[in-house]
Amino acid sequence: MGRRVAIVGATGAVGGEFIRIIEQRSFQLDSLKLLASSRSAGRKLAFRGEQLAVEELTADSFHDVNLVLSSAGASISKRFAPLAVQAGAVVVDNTSAFRMDVGTPLVVPEVNPQDIKTHKGIVANPNCSTIIMNVPVWPLHKRNPIHRMVISTYQAVSGAGAAAMAELAEGAKAFLEGREFTPRVLPHRAAFNVFSHNSEIGLDGYNLEERKMILETRKIFHYRVVLITATCVRVPVMRAHSEAINIEFTNPITPEEVRDILSSAPGVRLVDDRTGNVFPMPLDATNQDDILVGRIRQDLSHPDGRGIDMFVSGDQIRKGAALNAIQIAEML
Ligand SMILES: NC(=O)c1ccc[n+]([C@@H]2O[C@H](COP(=O)([O-])OP(=O)(O)OC[C@H]3O[C@@H](n4cnc5c(N)ncnc54)[C@H](OP(=O)(O)O)[C@@H]3O)[C@@H](O)[C@H]2O)c1
Repeated sequence: MGRRVAIVGATGAVGGEFIRIIEQRSFQLDSLKLLASSRSAGRKLAFRGEQLAVEELTADSFHDVNLVLSSAGASISKRFAPLAVQAGAVVVDNTSAFRMDVGTPLVVPEVNPQDIKTHKGIVANPNCSTIIMNVPVWPLHKRNPIHRMVISTYQAVSGAGAAAMAELAEGAKAFLEGREFTPRVLPHRAAFNVFSHNSEIGLDGYNLEERKMILETRKIFHYRVVLITATCVRVPVMRAHSEAINIEFTNPITPEEVRDILSSAPGVRLVDDRTGNVFPMPLDATNQDDILVGRIRQDLSHPDGRGIDMFVSGDQIRKGAALNAIQIAEML
């Protein structure tokens, strides 16, 4: 059979982006199956001028597909991805279910495309903040090995799914109209507020998002020593994550060298206009494939010129999730 694709979680924020990217990139396929929960069964979604009906995800959903793009949460992937593999499909999984499994490649195509070849049915897509950081950091690391990084994130609510986006809009409207608003999806009101990332906090005080950035980057970089610490925060932005990244290299490096390396790095666009005060913004990163990088400057606290500060913005539904997975699928 030709390329027969299923999207698991087709009605979600990432699922919708899969459909858009498949259309935009003229991704070749012979059939497309849209899967979600029983709540969405029968709902119609537009694809290449047709209306496709969403089907309920069941154990029998995969007999007629050979590529599964999965984004319905880790517990769904844990249960259904092995069934898809048994049925003969390759799964590109957007959830955290298999990312740290030994034997499952965790891939950012701009960083470790060669790892795709080692898959045994599942290729894992990294965490969105991890991808957005790795794309610009990897070419720098290749040129001048990174010793340590300190990252602070400014994460859009859409990272918590379609319902969180609706909640930000509702909460903003309620605030402006002077009404009470109780959030249901996020732990705190997102509108006109900033709060620590809504993921579980471990005994060490790090939340899960911070741990993902640290552990996944080590795996993607093949456990070359990179010390990382991160603070992950939600901001009232609808879409696209930003990150302030402080990097300590092994050898001295200048902002000019960093700009030079990044000016030809795949998946990166420099937005670094000091005169006009134009730097990466989530609004400009929205719906873009590239990670925007700017505010590139010497870290003056570093005594011997080994420190660089920079600021990045990237669309986490796109490059942080659906686009990265489609790039993997194209390589498969
Ligand atoms: N949003 C991001 O920026 C982002 C980035 C990277 C990775 N991810 C990961 O991608 C996954 C999806 O995220 P999202 O933001 O797209 O979430 P979302 O907008 O909440 O969408 C969730 C999707 O999963 C489906 N689903 C839920 N329960 C299901 C079930 N029991 N059976 C079948 N389908 C079910 C939903 O279908 P119904 O509509 O029928 O409920 C919906 O299509 C998560 O694991 C998330 O961590 C998200």
